[in-house]
Amino acid sequence: MSGGTLPVEGHLAKKPGLKGSGWRARMTEPVVAQKSPIAIEVEAGKSYWWCACGMSKKQPFCDGSHKGSGLTPMKYDAEATKKVFFCACKKTGKQPLCDGSHNKL
Ligand code: FES
Repeated sequence: MSGGTLPVEGHLAKKPGLKGSGWRARMTEPVVAQKSPIAIEVEAGKSYWWCACGMSKKQPFCDGSHKGSGLTPMKYDAEATKKVFFCACKKTGKQPLCDGSHNKL
């Protein structure tokens, strides 16, 4: 290790009495993946799993990173083939789609 940065995640993960993956087990607020929506061409009849925790590396979709966070992805069933704007800031009031809330961040 170099510099003065504390290994915060590792420190909290060792807190006794917590099951699962340490600090993430207590997370209830999503993290901001990016401060703008992600446009996706969805296909009618297909289902998509929107990342609600903000930690997925496959934004705006789930990659399983939410495990232990207390947050779960949301299913989006496409009724038509069209371009939709999925929220990536995770602060939308119209999950999983963007409602403009990112403009206030
Ligand atoms: S990206 Fe979250 S409200 Fe627009």
